[in-house]
Amino acid sequence: MNRRVESAICIKCGAVLPVADYFCGCPHCLEKGENASVTLRYRGTPVLGSGRGMLRYGDYLPYQTFPTLGEGDTPTIPIPKLAQALGLDGVYSKNEFQNPTGSHKDRMNPLIVARALDLGCHTVAAASSGNEGVSLAAYAAAAGLECCIVSTSRINPVWKTAILAAGAKLVITDTAEERWVFLKEKVEKEGWYPATNFISPPVGSNYFGLQGYKTIAYELFETFGPQKMPDYILVTVSRGDLLYGIYEGFEDLKAAGQITALPKLVAVEPLPRIERVLAGEDYRSNFPGEYHLTESIGGGTVTYQSVLAVKNSGGFAVSLPQQEVLDNLLELSRCGLYLESSSALALGGLKKAVAAGQIPQGATALIVSTSGGTKNDPEICQEIIWQSKIAR
Ligand SMILES: Cc1ncc(COP(=O)(O)O)c(C=O)c1O
Ligand SMILES: [Zn+2]
Repeated sequence: MNRRVESAICIKCGAVLPVADYFCGCPHCLEKGENASVTLRYRGTPVLGSGRGMLRYGDYLPYQTFPTLGEGDTPTIPIPKLAQALGLDGVYSKNEFQNPTGSHKDRMNPLIVARALDLGCHTVAAASSGNEGVSLAAYAAAAGLECCIVSTSRINPVWKTAILAAGAKLVITDTAEERWVFLKEKVEKEGWYPATNFISPPVGSNYFGLQGYKTIAYELFETFGPQKMPDYILVTVSRGDLLYGIYEGFEDLKAAGQITALPKLVAVEPLPRIERVLAGEDYRSNFPGEYHLTESIGGGTVTYQSVLAVKNSGGFAVSLPQQEVLDNLLELSRCGLYLESSSALALGGLKKAVAAGQIPQGATALIVSTSGGTKNDPEICQEIIWQSKIAR
């Protein structure tokens, strides 16, 4: 482990804890029914390494070296057509789908397998209906670890194939909740090392892994510099791991005096969840709604970390109905960006926020394009074909 790692700390109550695994988040908050994640504190000043990709930032992370597949260093591209249409000074995309297994999750899993190796665990596991499963299976294979992904029968065949091809075991349960029961038992009785948590309401995923998302903030800083950072960064949210990790990265940059203010983080969701919490509802409530076209960011729960990242950065949350998913996907595709439906929702969030005046004319905004269109569900692919004109 990186010698700079000093302690764990609860993101809600601030309790300073020994560096250990907290699969259910902060034990003090858990006792009070206030489920919340922990994060890591470091001592000293990090040193930037050489080469490319996430390994360069090893000194900023819990493990300086980890099994790598070449993650990180993803391109940031301008989308001038959208900037012009929306009256913004710039619209950009950080192409996280250009990571090795095609999603942002590839920044999290190298650190999770590094932790599992450090502890001597033989099996890593995750409850996942998609990108996390594919990514963890690949990193486990690279690290020589066993892997088990627990999913439901709704899993898309593209993901199912990639998980099985990597040699991981795929366990199918009837309901999403049963996945957590299965995972909890394997962790507690057989010493499996979990990437995702298994409590409800959930906390963030494995906190060692989550540190990897900070590198997105560092890379954006290198791309834009302190003066030209985008004003708004739009992130599609499920557990808010990505959102929170990016937030921490910017907090690091601020603490180091490299930026004076954080870009405002905008959580984009398929139904009002964080939006309702920001309007006063308890984050531990259940938020029913429809998300069948955006399974990767579905579910009816909110994590404390999502709310914290949005609030502390001065951002907000925006939700879009399922009817808008395909329009967003097609509009981005016609700018050259073919994304997974869940990922394309970020554009809907941007357009809605601009229309509502939450993002003012002349501002700059960046969407984090989390996953590529080749992973789209067959149902969505059919819809795309129907809606696209076939020239004869
Ligand atoms: C395509 C896509 N976008 C966004 C997310 C949101 O990630 P997080 O759980 O970090 O909020 C996920 C998570 O599975 C995803 O698959
Ligand atoms: Zn706590």
